[in-house]
Amino acid sequence: MGGSSTSEKRLQGMIALITGGSAGIGESTARLFCRQGAKVVIADIQDELGEAVCRDIGPSAMFVHCDVTQENDVENAVNKVMINHGKLDIMFNNAGTIEYGYTSITDVSVSEFERVMSLNVTGVLLGTKYAARVMVPVRQGTIINTASVASIIAGVTGYGYSSSKHAVLGITKNAAMELGMVGVRVNCVSPSVVATNLSKIGFKINDTEELEEMFASKAVLKGVKLNVEDVAESVLFLASKESRYINGHNLVIDGGLVQTNSLVSPHTYTCN
Ligand SMILES: NC(=O)c1ccc[n+]([C@@H]2O[C@H](COP(=O)([O-])OP(=O)(O)OC[C@H]3O[C@@H](n4cnc5c(N)ncnc54)[C@H](O)[C@@H]3O)[C@@H](O)[C@H]2O)c1
Repeated sequence: MGGSSTSEKRLQGMIALITGGSAGIGESTARLFCRQGAKVVIADIQDELGEAVCRDIGPSAMFVHCDVTQENDVENAVNKVMINHGKLDIMFNNAGTIEYGYTSITDVSVSEFERVMSLNVTGVLLGTKYAARVMVPVRQGTIINTASVASIIAGVTGYGYSSSKHAVLGITKNAAMELGMVGVRVNCVSPSVVATNLSKIGFKINDTEELEEMFASKAVLKGVKLNVEDVAESVLFLASKESRYINGHNLVIDGGLVQTNSLVSPHTYTCN
């Protein structure tokens, strides 16, 4: 079997739409995709930042204003991709938000819950809907959603975030079953905590190093700190042909964290 050359770009000639691409995980993924030969459209509500990222990347990136909670905006973003590039190979539904800290169920705010659900769930639903509309007729494409370890473990975040990320997993699996029938793959990534604006808000820690240290101290895998590039590399895998038979999968990027439960696993293992 002939292996691919190591210098071959993994997304050569591919077109990607990335929501929430002006910052954090989305920005890092946009940069990596372009280094791997893709052309990228960044869809975000932070116009100036997104335009600046695209200028910095160069001609392979362009920006479209898009609030993923607004159906017209998402439809317009996909239309812009089709008008400019004639196809959509990769849809990365990544835009998301988190509530300001954890609130007990007895004090939970419905408006805050709905704000988080609207962005994290409706945004992914709409991105999947409009990507599918252009991918199904050509029977190819891949959709990747950003979930979180909060899609499978409890008590880490508030009710809105936790519910929304479980729902992202549900949309991913449902769409994978339906769209798999026509050759379109749908998967999601579930990172543990990465220092970005979102996690700084969610955990009320502004300092990047402090946030990284806090989670490194709780991590199962030592000697490495999760960063946005690690997440982008996993998204690249799901976007590339290397994952061509992977569909409906939740790729957890957590160094093994979700395999543990500190309440019932009190042992500290030491290797020499
Ligand atoms: N940072 C983490 O620890 C972590 C862990 C697991 C999952 N995630 C998920 O990763 C995704 C990206 O988050 P991040 O950490 O990179 O955060 P971030 O705040 O750095 O980036 C989020 C991006 O989404 C954009 N955005 C916000 N509302 C939008 C809207 N209505 N329409 C379009 N774009 C919008 C923001 O402008 C920003 O560019 C989110 O879905 C988040 O839930 C993050």
